[in-house]
Amino acid sequence: MENAVSITEDLYYLGASDRRIALFESAFPVPRGVSYNSYLLKDEKTVLFDTVDAAVAEEFLHNLEGALGGKKLDYLIVHHVEPDHSASFARVLQRYPDTAVIASAKAAVMLKNFFSYEGASVVKEGDVLETGKHRLRFLAAPMVHWPEVLFTYDETAGTLFSADAFGTFGALGGSIFADEVHFERDYLDDARRYYFNIVAKYGVQVQNVLKKAAAFELKTVCPLHGPVWRKDFAWYLQKYDLWSKYLPETQGVALFYASVYGHTQNAAEILASAIAAEGVKNIAVYDVSVTDKSVLLAEAFRYSHVVFLSPTYNNGIFVNMEDFLRDLCAHGYCNRRYALAENGSWAPQAARLMQETLSSLKGMQKIGNSVSVLSAVTQQNAQELKTLAHEIARSFDEQI
Ligand code: FEO
Repeated sequence: MENAVSITEDLYYLGASDRRIALFESAFPVPRGVSYNSYLLKDEKTVLFDTVDAAVAEEFLHNLEGALGGKKLDYLIVHHVEPDHSASFARVLQRYPDTAVIASAKAAVMLKNFFSYEGASVVKEGDVLETGKHRLRFLAAPMVHWPEVLFTYDETAGTLFSADAFGTFGALGGSIFADEVHFERDYLDDARRYYFNIVAKYGVQVQNVLKKAAAFELKTVCPLHGPVWRKDFAWYLQKYDLWSKYLPETQGVALFYASVYGHTQNAAEILASAIAAEGVKNIAVYDVSVTDKSVLLAEAFRYSHVVFLSPTYNNGIFVNMEDFLRDLCAHGYCNRRYALAENGSWAPQAARLMQETLSSLKGMQKIGNSVSVLSAVTQQNAQELKTLAHEIARSFDEQI
């Protein structure tokens, strides 16, 4: 039985949520599930905006049939060919074979490669589709998050179909609208994690598309994952603006440590307490061997100041810390103040190696001297950590 939800008098939500999925893109844990959104406009012509992942195809097809109410499907606009949005493409065309497919040039090639489909009508930036009352304008949004991505702006209704942009992990339940859930409490952490793990590398391209969107009145924003926005979108837009400029969202310190037998953790805890004693608010401490790397990445981008503390391992950086730093580099990490501490029972190397990695990134400023622990934290180390905490706290004053 269908469960299509009305957004406006002629726009319907046809998506569904997957709460059984463990890893989104086989990489990112989604304990709160994820939604795959699809929308139907019922004008003189009917327009389907994207399809859904195979996991929710049955629900989606029921929703489509129910929302069409016997009308034919005239257009399918493909904003993004990644299979979480296109896996049901062939099934839609099987059921509605007369549907005209609209896509970007790059998407047309991908549709051929994924589905051996070669019938797409290609549109580009600025092209318009009139569907009766509605006038749909296409916007190119390359690398948000694949090169073929297209947005559609409905000039009549003020609705932006924004593909992956403004999406979030987290299933939908009950209301599909951001203004009817507690988005900041229940979705913002997942939205940040989604953004930084999936799109962070393409901040310049996100900024380009935000500039295009700023020219339009946005009454409704319909992303491909997560809630639909009808109110207070400026608040979320401001988050995206910060994120895509690689600017910190929270003035505070995130400490990331790896620890084999607890001594490097001890150093991290002493440093965190000393930073708090200096009056700094917003301190977070993470064990990089325990917390999922998608969370670590999002938190590193969130905070203005970061500290990395690692044992030396096989004459290098401890493996989980090394993985984390590699992930930061791969996602364009930059523009943060950082401090370092290392441990090494006979030949500490980790701080020097971490500094080599971090100093190669744009806009990274090191605070103080690296603290070097030889096995267990000594009185002298504790004093060095307190000195480092003071310098970290002082760097906030300098920033302000
Ligand atoms: Fe939700 Fe890039 O796919």
